[in-house]
Amino acid sequence: MSYLDQMFGLPGKVAIVVGGGGVLAGAMAEALAQAGADVVIADLNYENAAQKTDQLKREFQARALAVEMNAGEKTEIEKALEVVMNEFGRIDIVINAPGINSSTPFFEIGEEEWEKILSVNLTGMFLVCQIFGKQMIEQGEGGSIINISSASSGPPLSKVFTYGISKAGVNNLTQFLAREWAQEKVRVNAIAPGFFPAEQNRKILNKDRIQSIYQHTPMKRFGKPEELAGVTLWLASGQASSFVTGAIIRVDGGFTAMTI
Ligand SMILES: NC(=O)c1ccc[n+]([C@@H]2O[C@H](COP(=O)([O-])OP(=O)(O)OC[C@H]3O[C@@H](n4cnc5c(N)ncnc54)[C@H](O)[C@@H]3O)[C@@H](O)[C@H]2O)c1
Repeated sequence: MSYLDQMFGLPGKVAIVVGGGGVLAGAMAEALAQAGADVVIADLNYENAAQKTDQLKREFQARALAVEMNAGEKTEIEKALEVVMNEFGRIDIVINAPGINSSTPFFEIGEEEWEKILSVNLTGMFLVCQIFGKQMIEQGEGGSIINISSASSGPPLSKVFTYGISKAGVNNLTQFLAREWAQEKVRVNAIAPGFFPAEQNRKILNKDRIQSIYQHTPMKRFGKPEELAGVTLWLASGQASSFVTGAIIRVDGGFTAMTI
């Protein structure tokens, strides 16, 4: 086996990608499949999940399965766990990426919108960690959870108030669990992407916003989804990132490294 295969290869590993029907987690799923992992795409949008698994099978000859799952509903995650265990018998890697967004001005945010965003972005991620994390701990062979945070997790970003707060919570959840599960060898890290055009932020990215993002991004461009592949494989691999837990890795073209 080559050095790179030893370091980053994932044959025999089972990955569940929550939100994998979407743009960023979909690209992360492609990276995992190409490294040899079996991949389950769990998404609220079954059609997109099924399209992604078809692509993984067709292009990379991966074992892949689509599951319809609302990450905000505990019973649906438990049901998905049952399906994954019946089909693959284990879970080694979790990409936790369900996400919704809104740019409602602060005084117009109703309780319903506040709760909806937090229920997917924070409670959903919490439940996914609790239910799939417990399975990995019971297996006794460790594992890797990768939560998707955001550059908006702090310092605060304009126009995404509830979303930013949910992502600050994701950072804290990540570090809490890293500490809690270190002895169980379940590593918990987060990736904090900067700006990548995707479905959940399509409405927010108008001309002015795009200009403002470019001005504040040293690389002067958006990220491309495939630019998350390297960090995904590094964090997923028990070999390459064996001493890394509780880290929040920024992939943002320098956005959070810069002031005026
Ligand atoms: N695109 C960016 O610039 C950016 C930046 C930072 C963080 N993120 C985060 O990356 C993650 C992926 O988002 P994206 O940008 O690819 O957007 P996306 O809209 O393309 O993907 C989000 C996916 O989450 C799924 N989803 C929504 N609610 C769900 C639920 N309740 N249960 C299960 N799945 C659900 C959607 O169906 C969709 O497939 C999100 O957590 C998002 O907050 C994105």
